[in-house]
Amino acid sequence: MWIEGASNFAPMVDLHMNIINAVTIVCFVLTNAVLIYFVIRYRKRSDKDQTSSIAHSTWIEVTWTIIPTIVFFTLFAIGLVGFRQMRAAAAGIREINVYGTQWSWDFYYPANLRTDKTKTSQLKSPTNELYLEDGVPVKFIIKATDVLHSFFVPAFRVKEDAVPNMYTYMTLTPQISEEQKKNGFGVYDIFCAEYCGRDHSRMLGKVTILPSAAFKAKMLELEKEESNVSPAVGAKIYESNCKSCHSIDGSKIVGPSFKGLWGKNEAIESGESIARDENYVRESILQPGAKIAKGYQNLMPPQTLTDSQISSMIEYLKTLK
Ligand code: CUA
Repeated sequence: MWIEGASNFAPMVDLHMNIINAVTIVCFVLTNAVLIYFVIRYRKRSDKDQTSSIAHSTWIEVTWTIIPTIVFFTLFAIGLVGFRQMRAAAAGIREINVYGTQWSWDFYYPANLRTDKTKTSQLKSPTNELYLEDGVPVKFIIKATDVLHSFFVPAFRVKEDAVPNMYTYMTLTPQISEEQKKNGFGVYDIFCAEYCGRDHSRMLGKVTILPSAAFKAKMLELEKEESNVSPAVGAKIYESNCKSCHSIDGSKIVGPSFKGLWGKNEAIESGESIARDENYVRESILQPGAKIAKGYQNLMPPQTLTDSQISSMIEYLKTLK
């Protein structure tokens, strides 16, 4: 395979794929070779040529039934073993919630990864950023908040649909690929593999596999940022959540630019002039459709930010003069 493998399933899936490719190539070459040979060997040589009368050949029919049956059942057996492993989660396995939303991914980590043991709420990483600990098995519990999506990490060789009103799951053990071991960590693509609307092709994320110490440091960083309200935290949120639709240099992308936005009175769709203040920003993050800036369309999905993250966003907006 030409895509890095970064999970316990990668070698097995690659083997399976290679066997299927080999069988396909062998069958293609064999059937075409026989076809060409027959075309030449049994071509019509004169107008008197007649096809000989052959009813059937038992041994040929038995052979072409038994050999493919063995091949297909072998492929099925390998697939079944892998499928069972992908569905089996050990008791106490680390559970990570995955939410697919038009058009981004959100990841929540169990509260027992917190340093502050008095808090019981899940930890959240920035949108479209997933962090995993090298060699520690995880169970992804997957859900869509709006329409069908599909959580696909090619390097893990796994894919699972994200469905509204229903939880799906898969398990695997992340492992830093051989190619990226020298860096000490591995970074891989996350795709949405189910057409889910206009920006389906931009529903991209990154998964970072970290060694144990770095992973714990990352979780501590997430924990601290939760209660840390600052423009710097807001800038990070901007990078992961807002950047693709809102510029900070005044240029118009999908939505209004954030440059110089703070504190201004500007028109919304109804024609009314509304102050771009704390309440407007908060409402526009949580319910983007409530007040649409004049001249723009209602395209923004609601964002999953906590109160302190919204406050950080506000602090960041204030700096964009
Ligand atoms: Cu989400 Cu395609």
